[in-house]
Amino acid sequence: MASNHPIGVFDSGVGGLTAVKELRALLPHEDIVYFGDTSRAPYGNRSRDTILRYARQDVNFLLSQKVKMIIAACGTVSSVAASMGQSLPVPFTGVVTPTCRAAVKATKNKRIGVIATAATIDSGSYRKELNALHPEIQVFEQPCPLFVPLVENAFIDPGDQVTNLVAQRYLSGLRGAGVDTLILGCTHYPIISAIISKAMGDQVTLIDSGRETAVYAARLLKDQQLLASGGQEGRNAFYVSDSVDGFNQIADIFLGREMNHSACRINIEEY
Ligand code: DGL
Repeated sequence: MASNHPIGVFDSGVGGLTAVKELRALLPHEDIVYFGDTSRAPYGNRSRDTILRYARQDVNFLLSQKVKMIIAACGTVSSVAASMGQSLPVPFTGVVTPTCRAAVKATKNKRIGVIATAATIDSGSYRKELNALHPEIQVFEQPCPLFVPLVENAFIDPGDQVTNLVAQRYLSGLRGAGVDTLILGCTHYPIISAIISKAMGDQVTLIDSGRETAVYAARLLKDQQLLASGGQEGRNAFYVSDSVDGFNQIADIFLGREMNHSACRINIEEY
């Protein structure tokens, strides 16, 4: 696989942009192809079979774009379809391993909270990985199913009353459990990290699954000698499976207008 091919990133919607933002900063010369499956988001309340079928189609689309690596920037796919990387012709990473490693490094009191979609929490993926890394860590989990639709519908302003109220409802138990580190186990959540931090208090360290996965992927590309060699600025191509308007609006706020992110629509059922 040639090092001048793009990096492929996918998610059910806008969440994977948290990884793209960090990849752009870390690897400015790389081309990135992003796919957000906006017509079928959220994935987090769906059955395992459906999530696996969607993830396979997402990966097939990225492979058709001749990517040199695939990042499943989606906690749900990473948890439910963890082994899909084994059958791919290019390097692959999900978000669970990189995020758990960062959380274990960050915690001092060995009490870690995990918030994610219902499918991710049901899979136990973060808990198992945290305990495999460090058996003494106590893990406190909370599904937050309303966060993804709130983010997809741009309820993301730090002062948004609805999202603040929902965050307080979801997070009061974790706050009471005395966790010092909180894994944002769904890549949509860092987009509302200011709201989550307000509900948890400043003493709690938030671990951003999008960012940690981008750092991990950059290291993987370097180790496999797949980093782009050219001196020119990397290009971005964004694809979605539904209307581009909502996506462009959130990408505008989250990535900033200076990054060209206008999306094209594709029919994911063809892949
Ligand atoms: N960003 C996805 C994740 O990390 C959202 C999943 C969903 O669509 O429910 O889990």
